[in-house]
Amino acid sequence: MSHRSHSNQTRIPLVALVALGVTGTALVACEHSDELKAIKAAGQAGGKVDDGGGDGGGKLTAPRYFTDGKDPTEALATSEAPVATGPSNFVVGPAERTSCGDDPVRDLYITDPNLAAEADQLIAQMSPEQKVIQLTGVDLPSYDNSDRWRDIQRSRDDSALGIRGYQWRDGPHGINLESGIDYRTNQPRKNTLKNYSTSFPTSVVQGAAFDYDLAVRIGEAMGDETVASGHNVLLAPCMNILRNPLWGRAQETFGEDSFHLGRIATAVTIGIQRHVTGCAKHYIANNIELQRMSINVVIDEQTARETYGRHFEMVSRDGGIGCMMASYNLVNGTKLTQHEHLLTQVLKYDFGFRGFVLTDWWAMPAPNLGQGNKMYSLSERSQVAADAIKAGLDVEVPWALHFNTIPQLMSEGRVVPEVVDHAVKRVLEQKLRFGTTYLTDPWGPIPTKTSYDVASGQVTNTDEHLALAAEAAEKGAVLVKNEGILPIPEAVKKVAVIGAKIEYNVQTDGSALKVMDFARDVALGDRGSSRVLPDPELTVGPFAGLTAAKHEGTEVIAGNTAAEVGDADFVVVVVGLTAADEGEEYTYAADREDLLIPAHWDFNDSAEVKAMKSRPKNADQNALVNAVLALGKPTVVVIESGGVIDAPWLDTAPAIVQAWYGGQRGGEALGRLLFGRSNFSGRLPVTWPRSLSQFPTFTRGDLVPNPMEFNVGYRWFDETGASPRYAFGHGLSYTTFSYEGLDVGCSDVTANGIIHAEVTVRNTGDRPGAEIIQLYTSYPQTKVRRPAKELRGFARVELAPGEAKRVTIPVRVRDLKYFDMTLGDWAIEEGPVEIRVGGSSDALLSPQTVMVRASSN
Ligand code: BGC
Repeated sequence: MSHRSHSNQTRIPLVALVALGVTGTALVACEHSDELKAIKAAGQAGGKVDDGGGDGGGKLTAPRYFTDGKDPTEALATSEAPVATGPSNFVVGPAERTSCGDDPVRDLYITDPNLAAEADQLIAQMSPEQKVIQLTGVDLPSYDNSDRWRDIQRSRDDSALGIRGYQWRDGPHGINLESGIDYRTNQPRKNTLKNYSTSFPTSVVQGAAFDYDLAVRIGEAMGDETVASGHNVLLAPCMNILRNPLWGRAQETFGEDSFHLGRIATAVTIGIQRHVTGCAKHYIANNIELQRMSINVVIDEQTARETYGRHFEMVSRDGGIGCMMASYNLVNGTKLTQHEHLLTQVLKYDFGFRGFVLTDWWAMPAPNLGQGNKMYSLSERSQVAADAIKAGLDVEVPWALHFNTIPQLMSEGRVVPEVVDHAVKRVLEQKLRFGTTYLTDPWGPIPTKTSYDVASGQVTNTDEHLALAAEAAEKGAVLVKNEGILPIPEAVKKVAVIGAKIEYNVQTDGSALKVMDFARDVALGDRGSSRVLPDPELTVGPFAGLTAAKHEGTEVIAGNTAAEVGDADFVVVVVGLTAADEGEEYTYAADREDLLIPAHWDFNDSAEVKAMKSRPKNADQNALVNAVLALGKPTVVVIESGGVIDAPWLDTAPAIVQAWYGGQRGGEALGRLLFGRSNFSGRLPVTWPRSLSQFPTFTRGDLVPNPMEFNVGYRWFDETGASPRYAFGHGLSYTTFSYEGLDVGCSDVTANGIIHAEVTVRNTGDRPGAEIIQLYTSYPQTKVRRPAKELRGFARVELAPGEAKRVTIPVRVRDLKYFDMTLGDWAIEEGPVEIRVGGSSDALLSPQTVMVRASSN
C-alpha cells in the first residue's frame, strides 16, 4: 500500500462538586450556537445532533471553563524568584493560611462572532457541491489509476468563491515535505525535489525536556517552516497516551501521562498556531499500530475521558487547537469517524473543541481500507457519509470517497442542510481565523523567519531552527545511570565512538536498503508520515558532535566494532533501533514484539552472504556492547530509540544515556552533554520497566477485545506495586539539588480556584544545572477509582552552583476532576488533596494538604 459556535450564552450546568458531600453549581460559558439548536429543532430526519445541554435536549456532561477567567497560558505559567542565601523560611503555618478561593481560568479560544458571520455569508453562497469542496480532500481518483496515491496532502480550491483549499503537511518533529505533490508544479515531490526542512528531535524528546517554553518555540518553528513552504495546516501535535513502549509510534508522542501530554501539546499548539492551524491527533485511544484500521478498543467512560481523553480537552480549551484528527480505530465497536458519542458529545461539547474534525487518511470504513481496487456501492458509501457527518465528523481526507455523496444525501432529505453547514462553518472559521481563506491571502498571518527555495523544494535560512533542534536534543536526553564516569574527564586522551553499521529496509523507501551507522549517523526515527528529511550537510551525528565538543588535546575516533576501540581510554557506544524496528504501520515496522534490540543485516556481510535468500541477521548490538564492556574501559552506552528497551547490559554498563531520536542536531547535543559543556536535565516521560511483563498485555490488534486500562504508566505501577527499572520523571544531572519549604499557600480552595504551590530548590553541587520539579496530587479520602498519585504540574528551573530559587507551580483545581460514571459527569471531590513535589515520581517530599470546598464561605 502506498501511503501514500458561536454565539455565547450563559447557562448553569451541573458542576459536579460532589462528594464527600456537596453538589454545587457555577456559571460557565456555552460555546454552542443557536445554529446547533436549530439543527436539533430541524428534526431528526437526517440530522440528529445533540447540543449537549441545558435545554432539556441533552445531558450536559462537563463543567466548562469560564469566559471571564484568566488566560490559561498566563494562569498556569510557573514562576521563579531568587532566594537569598541561608535556609529559607517561607512556609506559612497552617493556622495562618487563608483560602485560595476562586480564580477561574477561561478557554484560550472562542469563536470570533465576526468571523462566524463571515463564514455564514460564504455558506449562504455555496451550492451543495461547493460545500463538499470544504469538507473533503481531492476528488476521488480512478481506482484504475495505479498512481492514485500521489495527491493526498491537500483539499481543493473553490475558484468560484475564491476560497483556498488546505495544503496539509505532517509534522510532530518538523514538516514532512516528502509526500504528496508540489502544487506549484503538480509534480510528485518525491524524487523531484530535495524536500529538506528542519528535523527536530521526535516528540518523546520534547516530552522528556519537560519544558513548556521550549515546546512553544518548537511549535512556532515548525509553523514558520509550514507557512514559508506554502502550506496552511500542520498535522501536529501527535499526542496519544503511550500506554506501552511497544507502540510503533512511541517516538511520536510526548509520553505516558495525560496531564504532561496535555501541557506539552498545548505548548506546541500555541507555537504552531502563531502561524497555521495545528491538528491534534489521533483522537482517541490510538495506541497500537497493527491492524490500526480495524482494531476495536474496549474502554469504559471514565477511562476514555480521564485517561485517554483529558489531554485532548486541554489542547482544545487551553491550546485552542483548530483541527482534530479522528483516529482509525474503533472504540467499543464503532469507528471513530462515525462515533457520535466521542466526536460530538465528548469532543465538541464536553471537551469544548471548536475547530473541525478531520479523518485520519482513509479512516472512513471501507473495504480494502478505501484505497484498494474494490470500489463499493454508492448506497454503502452514502450511508457511511451520512453516519459520519451526523456523528460530528467534518472533513474526509484524502479523497472525497464518501462525502461526495453529500449533495445526494441532502436532496433525499437524509441529511439536513444545517448539519452540513455546521461542518462547513467549522472549517471556514478556522480558515478565517488564520487569515488564509482566500486565494489572494498569504499562507499565514505573520511573516516567517525561514524561506523556501521553490526550484529545489527546500526550506532555507534555518540557522535559528538548527540551534533550537540542538537545544531540544540536549534538554530531552536523559542520563539514566552514571557511576561517576561522566562527564568525560579532561584527562582522557582518546575517546572511541563505537556503533554498529547495519542495513535495514522500510516500505516507504521501496526496496532500497538503508544503512545506519550508529557511530556517525543522525537518529531521525520513523519513515512513516512523521518523516522529516534534513539537509545532510546540516546534520551532526555522534562522532561529529563529540569531535566538535571535545576537550583540547583529546582525540576522538569512530568505529563499528569493539576491536576499533584500540588504545582509547574512554568509549561511547551508540546503539538503538532503526526505522525498520518501530514506526507507523504502513512502513511495515509498526509495533515491536518485545523490548529487545533486534538483530539486523550486517553491513559488513560478504557479497556471498548478501546474496543469500534468507540472509542471516548478524548485526547484534548487544554483542557489540558486551564486547566493549569486556574491555574494562570507562564506557557510556547511548540508546537511540522511541520506546524504551531491555538489554542484558543495562545492569552492567556504568553509564547509560537515553538519547531517543535526537533529530538532525542530536550529535551536537550529545557531544556537549558527554564532555560536560552542558548538563543533562531530561527526565523520563515514561516508566521504564524491568521487563515487559510489568505492563498489561499489549494486544497488538490481534486480540478481540483490546481492553485499555484505566491506570497507565506510573499509575499502573502504583496500582500493581511493581517496581520499575527507572521511574517516570527519573533523570540524573552532573549536579545535585535539594528541596525545602514546600508551601501550598492556602488552607482551602474552591472548584474553580488555583493552588499556587511553592518550593525552594537549591543547586547543591558545583556545576550549573536544571532541575525538573514535578508536582503530584493524591486524594487520601477518595471514595472512587482514582490513581494513587497523578502529575498535576511541573517546572524546569536553571540554577547556578549554590543558587536557590523559590518556584511557584500553579495547580488548577479543575485539573483534579475525575469522571464519575454514576453521575455521568465530571466531578471534583470535596475533601483533602495531598500535594507532593520532587525531582522524580519516586523521590517526593512529604505532602502538604489543601481542602477542596464547595465554596469559599
Ligand atoms: C497517519 C497520520 C498522518 C496521516 C497523513 C496517517 O497514516 O496516521 O498521523 O497525519 O497519515 O499523512
